[in-house]
Amino acid sequence: MSSTPNTDRLASERSRWVAAGTAGRPFFVERASGARIWDVDGREFIDFAAGVGTANHGHSNPEIVAAIREQLDNYLHQCFSLSSYEPYAEVCRLLGQCHPGRFDKKGLLLNSGAEAVENAVKIARYHSGRQGIICLDNAFHGRTLLTMSLTAKVRPYKLGFGPFAPEIYRAPGPYPYRGVSSDDAIAGLHRLFKNQADPANVAAIIFEPVQGEGGFIPMPEDYPARVAEIAAAHGILLISDEVQAGMGRTGLPAACTHYGIEPDLCTWGKAMGGGMPISGVTGRAEIMDSVHAGGIGGTYGGNPLSCAAAQEAISQVLDPEFQRSAHTLGQQLRARLDSLAARHPSIGEVRGLGAMLAIELVKDRTGKEPDPDRAARVIDEAFDRGLILMGAGLYSNCIRLLVPLVASQADVDEGMAILDEALRTAS
Ligand SMILES: Cc1ncc(COP(=O)(O)O)c(C=O)c1O
Repeated sequence: MSSTPNTDRLASERSRWVAAGTAGRPFFVERASGARIWDVDGREFIDFAAGVGTANHGHSNPEIVAAIREQLDNYLHQCFSLSSYEPYAEVCRLLGQCHPGRFDKKGLLLNSGAEAVENAVKIARYHSGRQGIICLDNAFHGRTLLTMSLTAKVRPYKLGFGPFAPEIYRAPGPYPYRGVSSDDAIAGLHRLFKNQADPANVAAIIFEPVQGEGGFIPMPEDYPARVAEIAAAHGILLISDEVQAGMGRTGLPAACTHYGIEPDLCTWGKAMGGGMPISGVTGRAEIMDSVHAGGIGGTYGGNPLSCAAAQEAISQVLDPEFQRSAHTLGQQLRARLDSLAARHPSIGEVRGLGAMLAIELVKDRTGKEPDPDRAARVIDEAFDRGLILMGAGLYSNCIRLLVPLVASQADVDEGMAILDEALRTAS
């Protein structure tokens, strides 16, 4: 065990001053670059969590940092509704290019993924004059009151925080590994229209093309198009939550594009700012324009520094070369995880889309009983060996891989070797 005097000191500062509910291990970053992080005691880590998918472009991406530096010398904050500035409009234009569909689009910029989801719901309700919102089992859409109400996992996200927002209805989410097929989920949606909410009072259906916190569950191939058809038949808007799965993570700017659908609204966050806090909603121009002036917005949404970073980050994602290398990385990681699964019977399933991949750990492959303790041990063992991993899943038994999309071959090789070793030690 190496000595960690700086970590120890900062851990005690943290526990003295920071609210305990923020969770997290005592690990203090000194600097980060690409897929590597160095801590305050000089330890080097390979980062397979990327700030929960925020560092798709790599930590301290030089072009993004340069764009922020340039903006720093011009102006910092304005508040877009008081004094407009070009980078805001430019980010909306670029985000519109990420949103699939050949219709006119417009955008709105905010600060966090949850705020983007909140605003997508507000816009959908306003435009439709309806109140109901349908979300899915295993969903995660944020931690504010409304988005926590849309989120599915009770502990830690909802426990003790009720009452929740009204007019939210939960449909079954497809999860083939745990017996919920696309047909089951569609049948559940029809059932919901009978026993929970009349479709004529439903404003929107929100879904993640690959469920993130829920355990990296990609929607089955046919599911989004079937939902889109049902939504259109009832005048219900479709919202694709791209906060975690978007921005190149699956190899394309929008993960929903893999499914051939054109959602009415998309929500964006995390990697769109390349490390700066910014999020957005894009949608059909007539829907986005329906809200009266002043009904949407906020003080910091689309802050100029964040916009400068986002302009560069989104431009990189729109570059076919970036998408090709993300796709290749995804294929390589998938092959590596499949080969780990062949050697480690604790891996019940390898799944995901592109470079958004996870392993689900089980006590045995036949019974599929979730093994959250083993998942926690693997994450700890990996950390002790210099690899940052993160859990996921309704049962906290999944380990997700959000490798920065610019990771080098050495990052991948070393990280995978540590994961292999951690799986062996934790067994
Ligand atoms: C799909 C999805 N939506 C919304 C959010 C909320 O984003 P934020 O934490 O920036 O509020 C997250 C965060 O993990 C997410 O994964």
